[in-house]
Amino acid sequence: MEILVYPDARTASASAAGRMADVVRQKPCAVLGLATGSTPLTLYHHLVAMHRTGGLDFSGVTTFNLDEYVGLAPEHPASYRYFMEENLFSLVNIDRSRTHIPRGDCPGDGVPAACEAYEREIREAGGIDIQLLGIGGDGHIGFNEPSSSLASRTRIKTLTEHTRQANARFFSSMDEVPRHVVTMGIGTILEAREILLLAFGEGKADAVARMVEGPVTANVPASILQMHPVVKVVIDEAAASKLERLAYYKAVHQHKPVWQRWDIPPMGS
Ligand code: GLP
Repeated sequence: MEILVYPDARTASASAAGRMADVVRQKPCAVLGLATGSTPLTLYHHLVAMHRTGGLDFSGVTTFNLDEYVGLAPEHPASYRYFMEENLFSLVNIDRSRTHIPRGDCPGDGVPAACEAYEREIREAGGIDIQLLGIGGDGHIGFNEPSSSLASRTRIKTLTEHTRQANARFFSSMDEVPRHVVTMGIGTILEAREILLLAFGEGKADAVARMVEGPVTANVPASILQMHPVVKVVIDEAAASKLERLAYYKAVHQHKPVWQRWDIPPMGS
């Protein structure tokens, strides 16, 4: 894992957005795995700004989102489709037919078939080039709650009360927060060629430390990222505050040969 610690969420987000933009520039038909939540918001603002002022072109890009609530129509303001429309899709030149979000609004018995179709669509698109992730305070990724199979595929999951409460701020009452979601599985996420995990604030410090330095366990789903060959963990000082080897991670980054660094533009670009 490459651990990159920035003074604040703003600079971390700018750097991570730069990495995603590089992927799109190098491969105009890139397949991006996208995430929702408060964490990636600033990164999306940067991508939009790069589209508007730097001509970053999304016309050939395909996207797959991690997850969606079961039972919410795409027009529901708390649905992840709505979130993506508001924060990215409507603000760049992406072709809507290439944007994919797990179906949470099909009738109950239609969900498993929709999950299988989602997996097939990812495969048919050639797999995900770069997957953006946030992390839950309990170490979940997507909506793969603790105890999720580390080999899981896209499927329906039941949320923990911890996650329902954490996400209640997007709903008008706790009763409205869905209990079920559809999420890419951990096995699905691990097939992405590159993973960019963002975490900001003290509330994520425990989860980050367990992900990076704890044992690999289904109890902390993000810990499986230790087994992925290309993971960039982009965090602020607060989220890094419980890492035991923080000084080492900073030294690795500081002394990295410049040609191996993706967070600073190459000479002449
Ligand atoms: C939800 C999402 C995750 C996200 C997590 C953290 O559970 N399904 O993808 O990483 O929330 O959200 P936030 O970034 O708002 O802290």
